[in-house]
Amino acid sequence: MYKSIIRAILFKYDPEAVHHFTVNTVKKLSKIPGISGLLKSLYCIEDPRLEREVFGIKFKNPVGVAAGFDKDANLYKELSNLGFGFIEVGTVTPKAQPGNDKKRLFRLKQDQAIINRMGFNNKGVEAMVEELKKNTNVLIGGNIGKNKITPNEEAVNDYTCCFEALFDYVDYFVVNVSSPNTPNLRALQDKEPLTHLLNTLMDLNNAKTNPKPILLKIAPDLTDSQLLDIIDIVAETEISGVIATNTTISREGLQSEAKNETGGLSGKPLRNRATEVIRFLSEKSNNAFPIIGVGGIHSAEDAIEKLDAGASLVQLYTGFIYEGPSLIKAINKKILEKYSNS
Ligand code: FNR
Repeated sequence: MYKSIIRAILFKYDPEAVHHFTVNTVKKLSKIPGISGLLKSLYCIEDPRLEREVFGIKFKNPVGVAAGFDKDANLYKELSNLGFGFIEVGTVTPKAQPGNDKKRLFRLKQDQAIINRMGFNNKGVEAMVEELKKNTNVLIGGNIGKNKITPNEEAVNDYTCCFEALFDYVDYFVVNVSSPNTPNLRALQDKEPLTHLLNTLMDLNNAKTNPKPILLKIAPDLTDSQLLDIIDIVAETEISGVIATNTTISREGLQSEAKNETGGLSGKPLRNRATEVIRFLSEKSNNAFPIIGVGGIHSAEDAIEKLDAGASLVQLYTGFIYEGPSLIKAINKKILEKYSNS
């Protein structure tokens, strides 16, 4: 029903307007007594065999929402009712910012992809904290970034600000230095600034009585030698793991009209490269750290491919838009079939 009716209608309208409309509708519907329970019974699979313990956290299932979907943490409860095992909120920055000018989100239907140049539009970390105070039991990742106006030399302050503000309200952190839509952000992936940034956050973290896992989210456009650097940096800074990958700046093999729009490309065309990055990191590091695999998961088989390549958990964004909520259940079912006896 999602693809034949709901998606067919939604895809006739502007993608960003549709996102806001859908979020508001889902929130309103969820307030009607009985609807949350109905959604849960339709989409959630509760099964102890789906549980995973990764970087010291117990996940009820390994399928999560990738960052960018719930930027301000106002939909995590409803997303959890659709069957996701964890929700990554953000990217959040210290101060609210509008992001880039519209239009900044493009559907590439023929390629089953999206190009976005949102530019970290968000309400700021304090507003996010207020939303997360309402959380009772949803497992939350906090994806943190820097404001556009903050120069890279001062970026560390933005990340530490978000880290401190969110510390009591998230289960794990993600340091996002891989979005293509904030000028120069990806320069922070270079060895020296990245080591400094992660060491600073780890020092703050280790001073807490209950340190939280800190992960690094990387771009799929890194070269093999940059990926080897990432492996060294994870070992040196002792962060808990890596999220691979963010959107790509590559435009290889695209057919859709919007293919030349500036921004990050996600969805099916990213699938192979994201899997390649996961496999490379996992093989070259001898599985030294957990990886969350994300990029182009549009089917249960795509998720299994990421897990087989070395991911411990997976996340979805574009596949969720194209395939709808039944994709989450399909992935969890497949995982039960494939791994429950191993
Ligand atoms: C994203 N993504 C993203 N990632 C991130 O770390 N912070 C962010 O704010 C955003 N924002 C964002 C907006 C939009 C519209 C999209 C489509 C994507 C990247 C996302 O989390 C994921 O890494 C990629 O989209 C690849 O996964 P999919 O979409 O192919 O499943």
